[in-house]
Amino acid sequence: MEEVGRIFGDVGLGHFQLSLTHPVERGDYLCVEDDLHGSVLCQLDDLQRKSDLDIERARTLVSADEGSIHENLLGIARIVGFRDPQGLVKIPTIPFRPGARVYRAEDPLIAKVLGLSHHTNSGAYVGLLRNHDLRVELDINQLVQRHVSVLAKTGGGKSYLLGVLIEELLRHKVTCVIIDPHGEYKSLRTPAEKNGAHHRFGVESQGFSRQIQEYSPDVSLNPSAKPLTFSLHHLEPRELLVFMGLTNIKTFLAPLKQLIERVSTATPEYTVADLARAAESGEGAIAETLHERLLYVEQTKLLGPQGTSLSDLVKKGEATLINLRGVAPDVQELVAARISSTLFENRKKGKIPPLFLVIEEAHNFAPQQGQVVCSRILKTIASEGRKFGLGLCVVTQRAARIDKSVLSQCNTQLILQVTNPLDLRAISQSIEGLTVGMTEMIQSLPVGVALITGGGYHTPLFCEIRPRATRHGGESVQIVEN
Ligand SMILES: Nc1ncnc2c1ncn2[C@@H]1O[C@H](COP(=O)(O)OP(=O)(O)OP(=O)(O)O)[C@@H](O)[C@H]1O
Ligand SMILES: [Mg+2]
Repeated sequence: MEEVGRIFGDVGLGHFQLSLTHPVERGDYLCVEDDLHGSVLCQLDDLQRKSDLDIERARTLVSADEGSIHENLLGIARIVGFRDPQGLVKIPTIPFRPGARVYRAEDPLIAKVLGLSHHTNSGAYVGLLRNHDLRVELDINQLVQRHVSVLAKTGGGKSYLLGVLIEELLRHKVTCVIIDPHGEYKSLRTPAEKNGAHHRFGVESQGFSRQIQEYSPDVSLNPSAKPLTFSLHHLEPRELLVFMGLTNIKTFLAPLKQLIERVSTATPEYTVADLARAAESGEGAIAETLHERLLYVEQTKLLGPQGTSLSDLVKKGEATLINLRGVAPDVQELVAARISSTLFENRKKGKIPPLFLVIEEAHNFAPQQGQVVCSRILKTIASEGRKFGLGLCVVTQRAARIDKSVLSQCNTQLILQVTNPLDLRAISQSIEGLTVGMTEMIQSLPVGVALITGGGYHTPLFCEIRPRATRHGGESVQIVEN
C-alpha cells in the first residue's frame, strides 16, 4: 500500500488531521491500519498548505528566496469505517494513534466498506466511483420505496442522469410515469451513438421504443404522442374545481354540484360547454365565476367524454411520458395534479402496479412558496407514497424553491453541480451526513459527476455518471457554430 502521510495533533473519532507527504486530492479514499479492527476506510475532506511565510516577508520576497519557505501539506480526513464480522459498517470507538501511517486505500477495501462489491438483481447501474473502476449501483427497491431527488443548477446534467436512471428502471421492468414539461424523454426510444465512454463504462447503446409510450394534451405540437384527456363524467365535482383552478371549495362546491345535477338531468351526455352555458344563465358573482372558469376548462380541451383510460396510461414495466411541451403552465399543473392523484388513489387500491413517478422541473409543481394545484397531492405522495409502492422522483434546478417537506422525504439524493448559495443551504439542511468539504465540492463538480447519498449506501459517494444507452433529449443548443 502506498503511504501518503501521518496522523498528527489531536485525533477525534470522526475526523483526524494528517501531514501529507504524497499528493492526494480532496475526496480521495485513505486507509489507516487500526490495532483492533484492521484496515479502516477514511476520506480526505479538506486540504491546506501551511507555510511559515508571513505577510511582511511575502511583500519583500524575491524569487531567490522562494526556496527558504517552509511548507507542509495538511489534510483533514473523515473516518468512513470498517466492516465488522457481521458485515455491518462500524467506526472505531478509540481514536487512531498520533503518528499512525495513512495509506491510499485500495479498491477491494473501498468496495467492501462502501458496499460496492454487491451485484444484485435490484441494482441500477448509474456509473463508476469517481477515480476508481468500481460500479455504483443504486438499490431500485430503495429508490422506489423511499423517493429520489435530482438536484443541480441548469445545465448540470439532471435530465441526462435521470435518463440513465430510467434506462435502468426499464431494464428491470419497473413501471414509470414521467411528467416531462420539455418533451425531453421521448429520445429514450432511440439508441445513443457509441463513443469511447461507452466502452470504458461497459455500456451498450440500446433504445427502449417498445417500453415507451407518450401522451400529450397537445398532439398538434407533439405529434409523436397520443392525446391525453380526462373524462368529465368520471370527475367528482371537487376534482372539476381543481381543473377550474378554484381552490375555495366552501364557496363553489355546492353551486357546482347543483349546476351539474341540473345539466345532467336534461343532457346525460353533457359536455363542459353545456355546463358553461348553464352557468351563464345563472345569476350572481358565483355563477359568473363558474361560467368564466368553465369556459377556460373548455378551451384547454382536457376534459373529453371518454378520457384516456388508466389501463392505457399505465402499463406494467413500461414508461409513460406525459409530454407537456408547449402546454401553458397552468394546464401543466392541472395535468400533473390529476395524473398524480389518479396514480395515488389507484395505487392505494392496488389497481395499478407499483411505480415510479418522476416530476421534472418540480419547483413549479411543488413550490416552497405559494400553492399550486398539485402541491398538496405531491406532498401527500412524498409522505405516504412509500406505504403504497408509489415512488416519487423530483428533479429541480432550484433546491431552495421546492417544498422543503417534499425534499426532505427524498431518501436518495443525486446532486450534480450547484453553485447558488441558497440552493446549497437547502441541500445541506435536507441531507444528513454531508460534510462541509462535500458541500464545497458540490460547487465545483464537473458535468457528469454526481454526489450520491442514500440509494442503499450508508455514506455519500462521488460517482462518474455512465454514458446514456439512449440519445439524450436535452442537448444544449449551439448558438454559434464552432
Ligand atoms: N454524464 C454526462 N456525460 C456527458 N454529457 C453530459 C452528462 N451530463 C450532462 N451532459 C451534457 O450536459 C448538457 C446539460 O445536461 P442536461 O440537459 O442533463 O442538464 P439539466 O441539468 O437537465 O439542465 P436544465 O436545468 O436546463 O434542464 C447536455 O448537453 C448533456 O449532453
Ligand atoms: Mg433538464
